[in-house]
Amino acid sequence: MALVTMKEVMADSLRRALDKNIDPKERYAVGAFNFSTIPEMVGIVEGAREKNAPVILMLSLGALKYIGSLELVADAAKGIARQYPEVPMVLHLDHATDLDMIKHAVTVGFTNVMIDASQESFEINIEKSREIAEFAHDQSPRGKFGCSVEAELGMLAGHEDNISVSEEDAGKAYTDPALVPEFVEKTGIDALAVAIGTAHGFYKAAPKIRFDLLEEIRKATDIPLVLHGGTGVPDEDFKKCVAMGMSKINVGTGLKKVYTDAVREAIKVLPETEYDPRKIVGPGRKAIAEEIASKCDLFNATGKAKAVMQELYR
Ligand code: G3H
Ligand code: ZN
Repeated sequence: MALVTMKEVMADSLRRALDKNIDPKERYAVGAFNFSTIPEMVGIVEGAREKNAPVILMLSLGALKYIGSLELVADAAKGIARQYPEVPMVLHLDHATDLDMIKHAVTVGFTNVMIDASQESFEINIEKSREIAEFAHDQSPRGKFGCSVEAELGMLAGHEDNISVSEEDAGKAYTDPALVPEFVEKTGIDALAVAIGTAHGFYKAAPKIRFDLLEEIRKATDIPLVLHGGTGVPDEDFKKCVAMGMSKINVGTGLKKVYTDAVREAIKVLPETEYDPRKIVGPGRKAIAEEIASKCDLFNATGKAKAVMQELYR
């Protein structure tokens, strides 16, 4: 099957998030995972396939710089989607700030883009996010489905490629639920990234998630909510976020460590005469697949590929 938009892949999760009568245990979030190489993309999809779960492949600006081309990534993702037709998957450009680059990603086949103007004023954030939403919904080669768009309101602490926010600044900039309806309505975005106490990168101390804010934000809009900074969030906090209606959870840094640890271990145990890169980085791909499979369980996304497909063909 072809790549699908994030809007499509999260429709079932959103329906459950908004259903007040549903048992919260029936809710789930779709995992979104950063990669820097094509084998990592494959590892992510293999983990999702093992659990019959939908998945979102995320390209950061740093990874884009390393790989070198949006086209290359889009073509690789399209090929992977053909090879794993049973996995509903999305190709997402993460935390992008350059409007022309984002538009380029839409035209080459990314099925979700994130415009991150969260460090700008509320008005400029609206303006830029709306420009991308209008472009992505109209111009994408994905025909009538277009390409969906995520934007961020509030600021996450930590470092993500070209965006750095100190903990002090981020503390002042949780997502304000009162601004959410206006932001969503004026921008026309498809998903909202929220700042509720998580941060990018490893935590020095366990994050204090503002579940009170999450509850208010969930009530303030009917579009899917996105949790960034998934590395190091305690399992119980993830489960609570999911039960409260979070639809997408981003994990990046921790996955890099899983991959690198496996490669380090392989180098340690292999004889020095071994030079086949497949034996050295292959365990990294396998470790990523295992990590994704366990995240699918944690986010309750295991077994949900079918529900996503049903929603697609509804
Ligand atoms: O957008 C990417 C994520 O928010 C990843 O955050 O590196 O802290 O897991 P993380
Ligand atoms: Zn993020």
